[in-house]
Amino acid sequence: MSIRKIKINAGRSYNVIIGKGLLADLAEHLPYFKGGTAVIITDSNVFPLYEQKARKSLESAGYRVLTHAFESGEKHKTTDELVSILNFLADNKVTRSDFIIALGGGITGDMAGFAAGIYLRGIGYVQVPTTLLAAVDSSVGGKTAVNLNAGKNLAGLFYQPKAVICDPDTFETLDDLTFADGVSEAVKHGFITDEGFFRRLSGKTRAEYMNDIIEIIARNVEIKGGIVEADEFEQGRRQLLNFGHTAGHAIEKCTNHSVSHGQAVAAGMVLMSRAAYKKGFCYCDYSQEIKAAFSGFLGTFNIHLSAEQLYEVALSDKKRSGKTPSAGGASSAGGKINIIIPERIGKCVVKEIEAAELLDVFKAGLFV
Ligand SMILES: NC(=O)c1ccc[n+]([C@@H]2O[C@H](COP(=O)([O-])OP(=O)(O)OC[C@H]3O[C@@H](n4cnc5c(N)ncnc54)[C@H](O)[C@@H]3O)[C@@H](O)[C@H]2O)c1
Ligand SMILES: [Zn+2]
Repeated sequence: MSIRKIKINAGRSYNVIIGKGLLADLAEHLPYFKGGTAVIITDSNVFPLYEQKARKSLESAGYRVLTHAFESGEKHKTTDELVSILNFLADNKVTRSDFIIALGGGITGDMAGFAAGIYLRGIGYVQVPTTLLAAVDSSVGGKTAVNLNAGKNLAGLFYQPKAVICDPDTFETLDDLTFADGVSEAVKHGFITDEGFFRRLSGKTRAEYMNDIIEIIARNVEIKGGIVEADEFEQGRRQLLNFGHTAGHAIEKCTNHSVSHGQAVAAGMVLMSRAAYKKGFCYCDYSQEIKAAFSGFLGTFNIHLSAEQLYEVALSDKKRSGKTPSAGGASSAGGKINIIIPERIGKCVVKEIEAAELLDVFKAGLFV
């Protein structure tokens, strides 16, 4: 069995371990002394699929195992659910030498990581991503969060896991749309930093992704890890990861989330590449190459929204974020806003523009 191990040096360093079948051997890869309590936090979809496998490995290695499962879905990524997790830990007398296993997608990882960061002022946690998106993106980098009434991910911590253990066999049970959401973030990583990797992913089908999955995840983790190491708290370079996300979040909101995050980000990347060219920020229009990268997946890049609609929503995100980088993709200070644009494939940059100019950018990007 081929296993890849990648070290991330952010805050404290930790390993990301990737290998098919790893879930059954979970306990062998944990950086913890045996004998303590492992608390599996998972959601209602992942629980019947993978909890038993994880539990069996942990129990046979001598850990006491507890499980808390919450209802799946973004609408359950709430402070109420966070408090339920905290109460579960306290009621079961979980101590600081115990740890959490976040078994699931990005929602599980974000919420379990947040709970780990604040319970008893911080206990350890391990990310065990079971979606492609969580494997290539959310499980690495230590951003944790829940949603507030006013918007997504508005409460959270930067809190790095003790390890990330990824078994891509778990992706077999993902539906195509959820798989494709992860593809968007993978393509984004290639496009912003590594042309060769972008081309390697381009046009691949789901089956082709799976044939090369260990190396694909590993390269994504290296790229995201490298960016996080350089800028753990998103003061500069980490903003590159928001490529396509300002427009993408606006598309998600304007369509009441009927367009998934991954599809919206894919459309957002196309829009921003076209806009960057039309506005003279770069020499080439890469929008067709980004579209082609997704040709192995169903999806539409027809955005039936006006630039004004997108602008209004993006600007209200910006207003809320004040002078700090927003959770929504663009960051702002006063009347300025940071957008991410390509110089070429494999090299994106952060560009500060007047917030009002974002309307022109969206208009240029939507031009057909
Ligand atoms: N922390 C970060 O840096 C970061 C980065 C990107 C996204 N995110 C967050 O991640 C979340 C999105 O992540 P996601 O797409 O993984 O969402 P998710 O956790 O909701 O998973 C998507 C769906 O797939 C199901 N699922 C998970 N694993 C499965 C499996 N192996 N088989 C079958 N079904 C499975 C889940 O129950 C859910 O219904 C968002 O809340 C977003 O804000 C965080
Ligand atoms: Zn994203």
